[in-house]
Order: sequence, then C-alpha cells, then structure tokens
Amino acid sequence: MKHVLMTGGSSGIGKALRETLLQMGYKVTNISRSEGEILCDLSNTKTLECEVKKWLKTNEVDVLINCAGVGVFEPHESINVSKIKEIIDINLCAPIILSNLCLRSLKKTKGHIFNVTSIEATKHSKFSALYTATKSGLRDFGLCLFEEIRKDEVKVTSLNPDMTKTPFFDSLHFEPSSKSNEHLLPQTLANTMKFILENEAVITDITIRAPKFGITKKKNSL
Ligand SMILES: NC(=O)c1ccc[n+]([C@@H]2O[C@H](COP(=O)([O-])OP(=O)(O)OC[C@H]3O[C@@H](n4cnc5c(N)ncnc54)[C@H](OP(=O)(O)O)[C@@H]3O)[C@@H](O)[C@H]2O)c1
Repeated sequence: MKHVLMTGGSSGIGKALRETLLQMGYKVTNISRSEGEILCDLSNTKTLECEVKKWLKTNEVDVLINCAGVGVFEPHESINVSKIKEIIDINLCAPIILSNLCLRSLKKTKGHIFNVTSIEATKHSKFSALYTATKSGLRDFGLCLFEEIRKDEVKVTSLNPDMTKTPFFDSLHFEPSSKSNEHLLPQTLANTMKFILENEAVITDITIRAPKFGITKKKNSL
C-alpha cells in the first residue's frame, strides 16, 4: 500500500486531500497539532525533525503533501517578531525540512511532493508581504527542487489555490464571497490533486481559481 505523509490533514483543504487519498487506497499519516498519527506543532522545527526521523526508520514515503499553513494579512509593522518567525516556520521552514528528511525515501519510491502554496505566490497584494514571502518562497523552492531531483523521477507540484471556503478565514478580517461561482471548495482542490497524481506527466505548477472574484469584508475590518 502506498504511503502519504502530510501536514494540514485535520482541516479545510488538507482534510479533503486526506479523505480523497484514503478513498484512492493510500495509507495516510497526518502531522498536525489537533488530530493525526503524528501530533506536532510545525513551528517547533526541532520536534518535527525528531518525530519524522523516528517515523522514517520504519516507513517509506510515496507522497509528501505540505498543506498546513496560516495566514496573516495586516500592515507589516503591526506584526510582532515572534509571529513573523512562527509563520515562516509553519509555512516555509516545515515544508523545506520535511522535503529534506523524506528525499532519500522519495527517491527510492520515485515519489511525489505536493506543496499547497497560494494564489498569493503568483501576485503581489497589499497586506500580504509576509504571507506572500512564505508562499512564493515555497513555490520557488518546489520548482527548483524539481530541476534537481527529476533525474531520480521524483515529481514536485506546486498547487496555488485562490480563496477556498475553509476555517482559514476564522481569524481574518475577510472571507470568501458566499456566491458559489466566487469561491473554491476544498473538494475541487482534492479532485485536482487526484488528477495530477494519476497523470503520467509531471504538472509542476497549477493555479486554481473560481470563475469570478468575490470577497466579503467582516465587520470592523481594516
Ligand atoms: N483557504 C484558502 O482560501 C487558501 C487559499 C490559498 C492557500 N491556502 C493554503 O492552504 C493550506 C490549508 O489551508 P486551509 O484553508 O485548509 O486552512 P485551515 O482549514 O485553517 O487548515 C489549516 C491546517 O494547518 C494546520 N496547522 C496550522 N498551524 C499549524 C501548526 N502550528 N502546526 C501544525 N499544523 C498546523 C492545521 O492543523 P491543526 O490546527 O490541527 O494543527 C490545519 O490542518 C494553507 O497552507 C493555506 O495557506 C488556503
């Protein structure tokens, strides 16, 4: 049975990816704080390294999915330094570390890395400097890594979603529009992942958007 190691499988997009992978017959090991086979806070990169090294002693990885992430969309000077470090650790350092730790196994299995980045990795928006730095960094990391490891037949895909209805927005000042043609659903991204996994060719970079743009500002927003 092929084995997926993933982050973010406890909620939103990652939960839909996890459920689809289980339906496809994969064994899934999820890393998150609230629910999963490996309980770990990704901002604690030392613990992450220890837990995953231990896990890799008895497991191979066919697919690595870096999905966990957090958003902050505030004036940059209002974000405190510890929050900046935490967001970079979760969104960027953890995927880079996990790729590093899993590469030996992924080369053996001729496996696949998926990085869930964001539409923000492909453009430049007000109040998104920190988030975009992490997501465009992750996207470029994946694109460079593919050039390095394609000789070993390891695939790397950057999945760049636009606004998707998930708990991601619970702590933010805005959320996706409620109109069905102005937001994505997590299952749409899971269907895209399934298509990519089943494709012979390597899809290195894919941006997924709703047909129309829509955003709802919450009360007391900036
Ligand atoms: N929703 C969107 O519109 C959208 C658009 C583009 C890109 N994305 C990206 O898609 C990914 C998934 O987001 P989502 O919308 O599904 O959000 P979500 O429902 O809030 O899920 C976030 C996931 O990240 C995990 N996570 C957060 N902080 C963590 C930490 N410190 N340690 C371990 N795990 C942590 C959470 O797990 P626990 O809480 O269980 O630890 C959860 O599984 C993120 O990378 C996000 O940047 C989202």
